[in-house]
Amino acid sequence: MRDDLYRIKQELADRLKTANDLPGWEALEAEYFSRTAGKFTNLIKKLKQLPEEERKIMGRLGNEVKDEMLSALSARRSFLEGARFARLAETEAIDVTAPFLPPLPMGHLHPTTHVQSDLEDLFTSMGFTILDGPELESEYYNFESVNIPADHPARDMQDTFYIKGHPHWVMRTHTSPVQVRALERYGVPIRAIVPGRCFRNEATDPRHEHTLYQLEGLVVDRQITFSHLKGILETVARYLYGEATQVRLRPKFYPFVEPGVNGEVTCFLCAGAGCRVCKETGWLEIFGAGMVHPNVLTAGGVDPREYQGFAFGLGLSRLVMLKYKIEDVRHLQTGDLRFLSQF
Ligand code: DAH
Repeated sequence: MRDDLYRIKQELADRLKTANDLPGWEALEAEYFSRTAGKFTNLIKKLKQLPEEERKIMGRLGNEVKDEMLSALSARRSFLEGARFARLAETEAIDVTAPFLPPLPMGHLHPTTHVQSDLEDLFTSMGFTILDGPELESEYYNFESVNIPADHPARDMQDTFYIKGHPHWVMRTHTSPVQVRALERYGVPIRAIVPGRCFRNEATDPRHEHTLYQLEGLVVDRQITFSHLKGILETVARYLYGEATQVRLRPKFYPFVEPGVNGEVTCFLCAGAGCRVCKETGWLEIFGAGMVHPNVLTAGGVDPREYQGFAFGLGLSRLVMLKYKIEDVRHLQTGDLRFLSQF
């Protein structure tokens, strides 16, 4: 009996080493300890057949062996469970800190925003303030205040979108109304730029779009002259297209300036020789400008006998087209990723 107990204990110990998963372990436990047919259970049943003295001794030994076998079993079970959790952690683990959506592609700035920020940098470096104005504008600010009366033919140059039920509201056609708003609000002297979105009722084509960006400039002080205007425009042109760039100013009518000019720069591509970009002229038209009309100063509450200044309007969308060689202005508004992802 004693030998049998030791043998069975050793046998279980050996076999446990090869029990590599929980089902295997459970089978072993049943094989030795099942109530009806376990090897250990059966062996203990034989105690009854022993003489009393020996039965007591073997009974005690049997309990010791049983404890040892059970603790060997439970040690193996813990080991197997640990291994299972380790495997879980390794291969089937869930990282609760991982993002649960695939990462979204990163966006980036629109080419118009790039050119706008570049110009904002330039102008703030020259002491200009950056101002904003409403896109839904009153007819008064958009037209009258900048010297375009209701019956004036100049209105035809800038047809816009009117608002149903609000006959005196318009989508602003240019950033110029902010000249008067700025004068009213901040007074003189003033040095400001106004980048912003404008709207025109256009039959669109590659060069015309219903939504466009401009950058207005306004400088008013006591001794501002036309040469200041020219100096600023040359600085802008060289900043955009390089030191060799020339500026050409030719008279042009704009109701809000007197005199008014149409501003061109030498073509950055052919340097004036003539090419496709400049339509063989050697010049690119990029802004309108002039000395602020006395009526505009008056509308802004400024006395034109004491103060004078200049204003300009840069076609921001046009600059973007030239900079990135975009052949159709309408691309800028489409939101088409095939276009946008090129920048
Ligand atoms: N507002 C004009 C336009 O949209 C551009 C412009 C021309 C602005 C001359 C000015 C200026 O400030 O002096 O066509």
